[in-house]
Amino acid sequence: MLRAIDQDLWVAEQPLKYFGLEVGTRMTIVRLQDGRLIVISPIASDDAMIQQLNQLGVVSDIVAPNLYHHLFLAQFKQRYPHAKLWATSGLEQKCPNLLIDQYLSEQTIGLLDEIEAVPVSGFNTFDIKGYSPLNEWVFFHSKSRTLIVTDLAFYLDGHSSLTTQLISRLFGVYGQLRPSWLERIATRDKARVKQSIQHILTWEFERVIMAHGRIVERNGKRQFQQGYEWFLGSPLSSEER
Ligand SMILES: [Fe+2]
Repeated sequence: MLRAIDQDLWVAEQPLKYFGLEVGTRMTIVRLQDGRLIVISPIASDDAMIQQLNQLGVVSDIVAPNLYHHLFLAQFKQRYPHAKLWATSGLEQKCPNLLIDQYLSEQTIGLLDEIEAVPVSGFNTFDIKGYSPLNEWVFFHSKSRTLIVTDLAFYLDGHSSLTTQLISRLFGVYGQLRPSWLERIATRDKARVKQSIQHILTWEFERVIMAHGRIVERNGKRQFQQGYEWFLGSPLSSEER
């Protein structure tokens, strides 16, 4: 079921295991001023959810923000065949049967007006030719001062399963907004990652919505900056914290 987060901003969540850990997954819905709905990182849909969405507005755009959150795209596109399906580059190799309408790029992203977006680059390519393992785009909804990320960062705390809490304590990331552990390992060009993070930090966000973990409602920008100290190069001084 959809959950209102702010005016014109909703999320819907469902359980999901990742490497055996229950981390859940979340989609985000932004309503534009003209009533169009942009659905980012769709989850499995049922009739009740679709009915709820249709009461909020008209689903016009479906966004696949990275190379991982594609499991329910085709199902969602079937529900809304006239909606434009946006994908990050490289997804066509992972999902050759997916009907992609438009690729996220610096040139096209302005079409999603009222939402700013930036790709996070600088990670290793692994097996997807020419693309980072995430190839993730992140979004800023200025009206609600919300940063929307998918796998770029997570926040695991007492709302997570007991095993997930234990693991996150072992990794020292419990109760903190942190990058995915994959990111440090996969970093190929730290300067480029830093550039992307610095772009994100030009946005004045208070809230951070991510696909896995608890939504950060306050001081999101400061927490995000702290989480990315390693990429940014210098730890924040105690005054800055
Ligand atoms: Fe994910």
